[in-house]
Amino acid sequence: MNLLITGGAGFIGSTLADKLLKIESNNIIVIDNFNDYYSPKLKEKNIKHNLDNKKYKLYRGDICDKSLLSRIFNESKIDIVVHIAASAGVRPSIDKPLDYIKNNIEGTVNILEVMKKNNVKKIVFASSSSIYGNCKEKVFSEDLKVSEPISPYAASKSACEQFLYTYSKLFDIQVVALRFFTVFGPRQRPDLAIRKFIDLIKENKSIPVYGDGTTIRDYTYVDDIVDGIIGAIKYNDTQYEIINLGGGAPVSLNQMIETIEKALNKKAKIERLPMQPGDVNKTVASITKAKKLLNYNPKTSFENGIIKFIEWEKNNE
Ligand SMILES: NC(=O)c1ccc[n+]([C@@H]2O[C@H](COP(=O)([O-])OP(=O)(O)OC[C@H]3O[C@@H](n4cnc5c(N)ncnc54)[C@H](O)[C@@H]3O)[C@@H](O)[C@H]2O)c1
Repeated sequence: MNLLITGGAGFIGSTLADKLLKIESNNIIVIDNFNDYYSPKLKEKNIKHNLDNKKYKLYRGDICDKSLLSRIFNESKIDIVVHIAASAGVRPSIDKPLDYIKNNIEGTVNILEVMKKNNVKKIVFASSSSIYGNCKEKVFSEDLKVSEPISPYAASKSACEQFLYTYSKLFDIQVVALRFFTVFGPRQRPDLAIRKFIDLIKENKSIPVYGDGTTIRDYTYVDDIVDGIIGAIKYNDTQYEIINLGGGAPVSLNQMIETIEKALNKKAKIERLPMQPGDVNKTVASITKAKKLLNYNPKTSFENGIIKFIEWEKNNE
């Protein structure tokens, strides 16, 4: 099977590529623009061990470059697209909303157009729990009617889900949109809280904590997310599905800091700051649907994930 992974040099995309390459029959094609949202050197590190692999092909370029997309689809017969490339930060989206319209919405429609032209019939999409906004429900399930995103990032992912729906109806493209809940683990983006906090605590610097620490996140270990994506690649029963991928055990910000302190055996210096616009109060995933349709079963607890991440950082410094 030939799989195109967009954003395949990033945190989640590169972890997915590595796992898919372990399956003999897969060829992996990656497009990534190595943008400088965080150091491109980290992305180079994520992929360098695959560059000599005959089953791996890398295109350094942008999903907004339509001629490059045409070339990629002409050069390989793509069976499935796993569309992961995006501007991924919540807070920066408030300052640069147009980047999110371009990379996320326009980029997704470009991918759908090139799929349509080349008769590619399946896409797995990296959506986000941020779509739920400040949803009041105890647990977020996929059948909730959510239409109140509180950041341009969330609004862009919501728009992508709608374009995906439209293309699935109009052009018979099978869509699985996976709403990831705060992903962490080896190769994590340095702008995300867990990695940032671990690095600052190690350097004896204070950590910026927004709000009183009671905000809640359903953290999900990256290997579990990758298993969920692989489940979605295999899933063929229905034409359009939105499926949550969460860790299944939400953790407060204060608990997150305590877990890191315990794993590092070091106390954090806390700089208390007001809540940031765009940040939601809580994310709590219902993963019943993922379990049923994708055999999804998150295996790494938050505590173990933190220990594994710290270990990985130690070996990769
Ligand atoms: N990390 C999380 O907690 C999380 C949670 C929910 C959803 N997501 C989604 O998962 C996906 C991956 O997130 P990540 O944390 O791995 O981010 P990441 O930034 O590490 O990966 C995204 C990759 O896409 C590439 N990219 C961005 N715009 C591109 C473009 N226009 N053309 C080509 N390549 C482009 C980047 O260079 C990067 O390598 C994103 O779509 C993100 O919105 C992530």
